[in-house]
Amino acid sequence: MKIAITGTTGMLGQALCKAFARHSIYPLSSGDADVTSLPTVRQVFSDLKPDWIIHSAAFTGVDEAESKPLEAYRVNALGTRNVALAAFENKSELLYYSTDYVFDGRQDRPYREWDPTNPVNEYGRSKLAGEFFVRSLCPLHLIVRTSWLFGPGGSHFVQKVLERAKKEEHLNVVNDQRGSPTFSTDLAYMTLCLIEGGKRGTYHVTNSGDCTWYEFACKIAALKGIPVKVNPIDGSACSAPALRPAYSVLDNYLLKLEGIPVLRPWQNALAAFLGD
Ligand SMILES: NC(=O)c1ccc[n+]([C@@H]2O[C@H](COP(=O)([O-])OP(=O)(O)OC[C@H]3O[C@@H](n4cnc5c(N)ncnc54)[C@H](OP(=O)(O)O)[C@@H]3O)[C@@H](O)[C@H]2O)c1
Repeated sequence: MKIAITGTTGMLGQALCKAFARHSIYPLSSGDADVTSLPTVRQVFSDLKPDWIIHSAAFTGVDEAESKPLEAYRVNALGTRNVALAAFENKSELLYYSTDYVFDGRQDRPYREWDPTNPVNEYGRSKLAGEFFVRSLCPLHLIVRTSWLFGPGGSHFVQKVLERAKKEEHLNVVNDQRGSPTFSTDLAYMTLCLIEGGKRGTYHVTNSGDCTWYEFACKIAALKGIPVKVNPIDGSACSAPALRPAYSVLDNYLLKLEGIPVLRPWQNALAAFLGD
């Protein structure tokens, strides 16, 4: 299949290029296709006419989105509208990535795909707006919600913990936000399975299990044998501009309903990433 991928300079985009190597892939950086420009997006996709567009490009700065909401919405909402429109006009299938941050975190069980959304920050609201455009403009779509990504070539929590642990003896890490860490390589592999399997609809795809950021940091330090002291703190003690849901564990329920094996436990995925 002919597959165009947006956001290929990003963490997930790089993993997707590897996972889809057996297909004809067309990696698109923001220089190749600035998704905020409708004429550009229309031109690029009418020239390529891909079977699939995998739209992984996004404004991903959760805290930055609070002070720059227009920039976040321009990429995540308007940019996704543009990609969805071009997909419809060129009869391309569309896959869009969304986030656990579309939920408010007040639920006491993992979120299923059809649970009510209610984002608590601008990033989550802008990604949810992207979902609306995909659903309304491309009825036969895939939306994949994921969470807490880590992997090669990205700026993420694992890398930040390792960098801080080199310089600091104590790390204070939030222990009242719970989610599921997800390895970009595993997510890209599941994306391949969903597309090749002809699936449609909204899927939650994360590594199995859940933890707090504190528990995640402890595991990172333990796996690397770093003797850093990790202290649990409350999110309210941080001055992060964006609110985060206290509980954003995604139940991979549609995968389970279809009998598709869910991704390995996050601890195993983390060990694989750190062992490379
Ligand atoms: N990271 C997470 O924890 C997480 C969690 C849940 C969901 N997600 C979703 O997963 C997807 C991939 O995330 P990621 O962490 O891999 O992202 P990332 O590493 O931050 O990369 C973002 C990509 O988007 C591109 N981009 C930004 N603005 C653009 C524009 N105007 N036009 C075209 N491309 C543009 C960037 O290109 P340049 O480098 O050229 O600017 C970059 O390639 C996103 O949809 C994100 O919302 C991520």
